[in-house]
Amino acid sequence: MNEAILGGLIAGGTDPADIVATVRRAERADQLAKRHHGITAIAGAEEPDNNRQAATGSGVVILGVKPVGIADLAREIGGSLAPDTIVISVAAAVSLEQLEAALPAGQPVIRSMPNTPAQLGRGVISVSAGTHCSPAQLQLAKDLLASAGTVVEIPEDQVDALSAISGSGPAYAFYLVEAMADAGVELGLDRELSLLIARETVAGAGFMLAEAGADPTALRKSVTSPNGTTERAIATFDARGLPSIIADGARAAAERAAEITKQLG
Ligand SMILES: NC(=O)c1ccc[n+]([C@@H]2O[C@H](COP(=O)([O-])OP(=O)(O)OC[C@H]3O[C@@H](n4cnc5c(N)ncnc54)[C@H](OP(=O)(O)O)[C@@H]3O)[C@@H](O)[C@H]2O)c1
Repeated sequence: MNEAILGGLIAGGTDPADIVATVRRAERADQLAKRHHGITAIAGAEEPDNNRQAATGSGVVILGVKPVGIADLAREIGGSLAPDTIVISVAAAVSLEQLEAALPAGQPVIRSMPNTPAQLGRGVISVSAGTHCSPAQLQLAKDLLASAGTVVEIPEDQVDALSAISGSGPAYAFYLVEAMADAGVELGLDRELSLLIARETVAGAGFMLAEAGADPTALRKSVTSPNGTTERAIATFDARGLPSIIADGARAAAERAAEITKQLG
């Protein structure tokens, strides 16, 4: 996820020379430096000085370790931040309250929830501002993150719902491709062929949806002839309650996010 954002920032015009990335493993640092020419990639994140050094003098710091490590990392670098350094956390389930408690009093904080298509500049990235983040600081973060996709500003109490749709959503789309490929095999197609056509169909439909102003209902209706094959398939999905199954899955994801926030608290 962090590399997706890193790639997006550079594609969006951020000077690589202005970016410092810290990771744990030396091979990962080498890989990042090779793939994103001009950035500084520092290995050995366990050495507290490395993260502190990266944070020192930075206008924006993005925290992207696993949720369980975010508060420790925030405490680790807190003393190296300028009072107006904007701290953006992309960690799932870590609340603004938890972030603010781990950082120096008054630090501007933004909670963000990206998704993996950010690596292609086609992500959905939410932002929710903390108590001390000014409108100008929020705008700066939005402008930065816009290079990785569509930025939406939401109140923090909607992050779990958004995460259940856009955060987990790419996996739902991949799951649909897997199910379509299995269905093709059941209908007698060779697996390789079935996977190829399922994958390209969902990717192609995704491109159609990506057109400005695309309306999924209108697009669906345009390929659903009365009394035709697609109509029969959609009627079967409806009869089996597929929309409510998807709603149940999304609700389960949102509930799980709330559970994790409680565990981390
Ligand atoms: N994956 C998603 O779809 C998704 C979506 C939304 C939000 N997120 C959030 O994004 C965050 C990262 O998730 P991920 O799946 O990308 O995890 P990941 O692959 O484990 O990435 C974590 C990165 O942090 C580095 N790291 C670990 N400890 C560090 C430390 N103390 N200081 C500096 N760097 C350190 C790791 O270095 P090494 O590579 O050397 O181990 C690794 O590059 C999580 O908080 C997650 O909730 C992920």
